[in-house]
Amino acid sequence: MEKHGYPSVFVVDSSAGRPPLPPRPTKGKMRGGAAQTLLFMLVGLALCGMIIEGCFIYYLYQSASASTTATASKLIGGETVATPTARPINGLLPSKPVAHLTDGHDVKHKKHTMAWSMNADPILYQMDYKDTKLIVHKEGYYYVYSKVFFSDSKTFYHVIELHTKRYAGGHITLLQSRRYAPVTSGMRSNSYLGGVFHLYKDDALYVNVSDTSKIERHKSYENVFGVFMI
Ligand SMILES: *[C@@H]1O[C@H](CO)[C@@H](O)[C@H](O)[C@H]1NC(C)=O
Repeated sequence: MEKHGYPSVFVVDSSAGRPPLPPRPTKGKMRGGAAQTLLFMLVGLALCGMIIEGCFIYYLYQSASASTTATASKLIGGETVATPTARPINGLLPSKPVAHLTDGHDVKHKKHTMAWSMNADPILYQMDYKDTKLIVHKEGYYYVYSKVFFSDSKTFYHVIELHTKRYAGGHITLLQSRRYAPVTSGMRSNSYLGGVFHLYKDDALYVNVSDTSKIERHKSYENVFGVFMI
């Protein structure tokens, strides 16, 4: 066995078999427990920090996205348009483009073209109102409607017109109602138009009547014009 005259490793290392001294029981245990508690506290603190941070990021994102969608319709086209921002009702913004405009004291109609109030609490989302016209930003199918209250002893008409770049003639009549005389003087009537149309970006919609001076203007909600994507 002892070929080179040295004792074998196994022989010399005879003490290795001895079990190591157990750690001093009480002190070590206490130190370990304290370290564990500290570790738990630190991990807990870190988790709390992450949760708070998460909440902040969530609220920041919520308010940022709400304000961008509200101002988005204002900035499209690079020009400033007299539009009210879409105010969320109970924190809810519409899911699709929508507009509902009414008459108002601030409104001055043109001879044949109805103008609409920007003060009478209009709903305007992802659409613009500019110089009597509702401007479409998103292509799609829309329900278009208008109601007017009028008194006219002569022929009266009420139309919704589409102004589009895609048509050489400039405008297309989407909807029309007519009423012919004879009517007893002072008689009042309503005209309602409504239908679905495929509209493209930058299409403009407006309402013409035979004579805007014949429109009865008592309450803002008696004369309305609206559009919404379906
Ligand atoms: C609508 O009325 C305006 C004047 O207010 C007129 O210039 C325009 O031609 C009318 N549109 C149609 C389609 O009759």
